[in-house]
Amino acid sequence: MNETTTERPPFRGFAPGDDNPVLETLLAHRSTRSYKDVSLPEAALEQILDAAQRAPTSSNLQSYSIVVVDDQGLRDQMCILGGNQKFVAECAVLLVFCSDITRHIHVCRERDYTYRGDQINTLFVTHGDAILACQNASIAAQSMGFGTCMMGNVRNDPPGVSDLLGLPRYVFASIGLAIGVANEDMGLKPRLPRRVMVSRNRYSDRHLKDGLAEYDETMRRTGLYDGRREPLNDVAPDAQDSIPDEAYGWCEHAARRLGGFNQLQRRNFGEFLESKGFSRR
Ligand SMILES: Cc1cc2nc3c(=O)[nH]c(=O)nc-3n(C[C@H](O)[C@H](O)[C@H](O)COP(=O)(O)O)c2cc1C
Repeated sequence: MNETTTERPPFRGFAPGDDNPVLETLLAHRSTRSYKDVSLPEAALEQILDAAQRAPTSSNLQSYSIVVVDDQGLRDQMCILGGNQKFVAECAVLLVFCSDITRHIHVCRERDYTYRGDQINTLFVTHGDAILACQNASIAAQSMGFGTCMMGNVRNDPPGVSDLLGLPRYVFASIGLAIGVANEDMGLKPRLPRRVMVSRNRYSDRHLKDGLAEYDETMRRTGLYDGRREPLNDVAPDAQDSIPDEAYGWCEHAARRLGGFNQLQRRNFGEFLESKGFSRR
């Protein structure tokens, strides 16, 4: 790794309003789904990969690998496999973060030790490591002014992605990250009210209803759903979409998405993982 600093920043205490570029980057996050035809300088890619590899990993097992997809033809194919999300073809580079236990199997086999990681926990560990590295890369890229968008759709057609990128047994694509120069600014997408998501010392859902109602209103005001409703006939084939715009908010949008038949698209993912040598037990 290309270490640029080995020093931890000194503890300076905290005062609201302090200059803090890391927080500024985190709080300015938005996904970018349209990119200019501008490449990513190799030096920037290196730093983004440094930041990705600097992410913590479970037991320092570093259970992931990254495939840098800068070949246009391959990104065109990835775009198709992911359901034609055009940002995948348009971005400068697509990083594919893969859950990977090949190195674990290797070190055990070399020593004639029985590999005992074949359990569902390994899936959480490897996928978690991959996601954390991806988020580090995303923030690093955004701190340089690039736009990013994650691509969970690498899991739409797992065998297709696996073949295209040459992923062997014990490796599967967990998440993709598109990086490039933004050609749009969608602005900040509002989040659920804090009281719905955060409780202190003991879990609480007492703000569920009023918090969701507030969020529905906030999201309706953004206009993000105008002309971009989830189709109701994907949930109930014969249902009429008679909901007026004033009543279509995050709750309806999320419920349609979660109740839609296209949720079933990934139902064979478990079998695929087993075929790759990951246990679901
Ligand atoms: C695990 C994960 C997978 C995602 N996959 C996709 C994707 O395949 N396509 C896409 O357009 N956005 C994807 N996103 C981006 C989310 O849609 C986005 O983060 C969310 O709508 C909030 O918007 P924001 O990032 O602009 O704040 C993904 C995000 C995460 C965390």
